[in-house]
Amino acid sequence: MRVEDLEKSFGRNHVLKGLNLEFPSAATTVVMGPSGCGKSVLLKHLVGLLEPDAGKVWFDDQRIDQIPEPQLGPIRRRIGFFFQQGALFDSMTVGQNVEFPLREHTDMSPGERRVRVDRMLEMVGVSGTYDRNPATLSGGQRKRVALARAIVLEPDVILYDEPTTGLDPIRSDIIGKLIERLQNALKLTSIVVTHDIQLSFRIADRMVLLHEGQVHMEGPPELFRNSDDPEVRRFLEGRATRDELAGIEDAREDGS
Ligand SMILES: Nc1ncnc2c1ncn2[C@@H]1O[C@H](COP(=O)(O)OP(=O)(O)O)[C@@H](O)[C@H]1O
Ligand SMILES: [Mg+2]
Repeated sequence: MRVEDLEKSFGRNHVLKGLNLEFPSAATTVVMGPSGCGKSVLLKHLVGLLEPDAGKVWFDDQRIDQIPEPQLGPIRRRIGFFFQQGALFDSMTVGQNVEFPLREHTDMSPGERRVRVDRMLEMVGVSGTYDRNPATLSGGQRKRVALARAIVLEPDVILYDEPTTGLDPIRSDIIGKLIERLQNALKLTSIVVTHDIQLSFRIADRMVLLHEGQVHMEGPPELFRNSDDPEVRRFLEGRATRDELAGIEDAREDGS
C-alpha cells in the first residue's frame, strides 16, 4: 500500500499536509506521532473510510480513493482492521463474533467456519473461549478476540490502531508478541499506529514519525534509536515543548 501527496482538512484543521508513504509488503511499518496528529485519519484513508482532499491512495495498482464505496468490499476483505476500541458485540458469543466476517463475506459451510474460527482463536491464545460471552472476558482477552476477528478472512494487510492502548505493560508485551507471531505466520503487510515506544521498537521493520501533518522521519528502527534529531528525541523521550507546557502554566495562573 502507499499514499501519495495525501491532504486532508476538517474545516480549518489541516491534518494531513501532503503525506508520502510506502508500506512494504510482508513487513511491519510502525507509524508514530503525538495524539491528534492524524494517525487514525491516515488509516481511515487506507480503507476508504475517508476521502482525501487531494492525493492518491494505492492498493497494488488500484486507487482506493477513486473506488466508489459500494465497490470497496473486495478490497476491504483483503485488509484486516484492528480498531482502537476493538469493539466486540456483547449480544454474540466469542465464536459468533469471530465468525461474523466469514458469514458476511464467504460461502464457507458452518463446519469450515468452525475450523477457521478455532484456528484463529488458537493463534491468538484464547482457544476454549468459543462459547463465552465477551463481557465475561478480561481486557487483554477481548483484544485477542478482536484480533482473531481482524484476521479471520486471512487478509494481505492488517491495520492496527493503538493496539495496546489501555493495557498494562505486561499485556501490551503480549499483544506485541502476538503481532510478531501473526506477522511471521501469515506474512502480512502490517501497519501499526501507536505512541507506544516500547511496542514500536519491538515489532517495527520500518518506522515513521509524523509531525505537523507530514512525514518527519522514516527508516529502520536503528535510525531512530541513534537519531540526534530534536523532534525524534523529544518524541522517544516523551518530553513536552515549552509551548505545550505553557498551557498548564496559564491554567495555574488563572487559578483553575
Ligand atoms: N471525522 C472527523 N471530523 C472532524 N475532525 C476530525 C475527524 N476525524 C479526525 N478529526 C481531527 O483530525 C485530527 C487528527 O485526528 P486523529 O487522526 O484521530 O489523531 P490521532 O493521531 O490521535 O489518531 C484531530 O484534530 C481530530 O480532531
Ligand atoms: Mg487515533
